[in-house]
Amino acid sequence: MPPLKIAVCGASGRTGSRVAALAAVDARFHLLARVGRAQAAAFEDEVGACGAVVDFTAPEASVRFAAACGRAKVPLVIGTTGLTDVQRAQVAAAARKTAVFMAPNFSRGVTLLLHLASEAARRLPDYDAAIVETHHKGKKDAPSGTALRLAQAVAEGRRSDAAVPTSSLRVGGVVGDHELTLAGPYERLTLTHAAESRDAFALGALEAALWVAKKRPGLYDMLDLMGLR
Ligand SMILES: NC(=O)c1ccc[n+]([C@@H]2O[C@H](COP(=O)([O-])OP(=O)(O)OC[C@H]3O[C@@H](n4cnc5c(N)ncnc54)[C@H](OP(=O)(O)O)[C@@H]3O)[C@@H](O)[C@H]2O)c1
Repeated sequence: MPPLKIAVCGASGRTGSRVAALAAVDARFHLLARVGRAQAAAFEDEVGACGAVVDFTAPEASVRFAAACGRAKVPLVIGTTGLTDVQRAQVAAAARKTAVFMAPNFSRGVTLLLHLASEAARRLPDYDAAIVETHHKGKKDAPSGTALRLAQAVAEGRRSDAAVPTSSLRVGGVVGDHELTLAGPYERLTLTHAAESRDAFALGALEAALWVAKKRPGLYDMLDLMGLR
């Protein structure tokens, strides 16, 4: 199998730099471009040369890359979080033209946490649910995309739209901690995940690129990749 030609958008960033570094030493990939902010506009016209694009930037940039990938029919992996509903709809429009993989968290542990959270909430529908998430001080969005997705997993498990109270801490250099508590009158169940390195996300995003490069147009996430849907 020839290596997958990929470009990494946000390659100067905390996460994108790790995606590019790991892809550069992995024979399954041919790293065509490290796209920074300065190259972003020109890259949108050249995206057709890629077998897949991986994006860890900012919402306004991600929707432009999604539109460009849609036009060029190039599969796209979006790791960026904090998209508005309108921006999500723009990504969904691109996913009608090409395969788009969008996940607030590419770690396999968090993906399993979402699955377990849904199951736990389904089995303990009368317990109080609450989420606490902790990230480094540079994180722009709060609550984190993963915390929002965790709340959605609880809602799906309970078949209820009731909001899940969520607390966000922004301290030091924490890569990403998420904790869901389900509390009854006499006991508490806590499901917790701690990311210890951004490579958990970077490696997951690269696996997602290999996976989505073979898919038809549509919107996919880690539950699809891990067969948990
Ligand atoms: N899905 C996951 O598993 C996962 C994991 C970690 C992070 N994330 C998300 O990924 C995103 C990036 O996080 P990070 O911590 O890596 O951020 P970061 O260190 O601030 O890096 C952001 C990168 O995007 C570039 N960028 C920002 N705005 C841009 C624009 N308008 N056009 C083109 N490029 C732009 C930046 O370029 P400059 O350096 O030139 O500004 C930089 O290379 C965030 O939304 C974060 O929540 C997701």
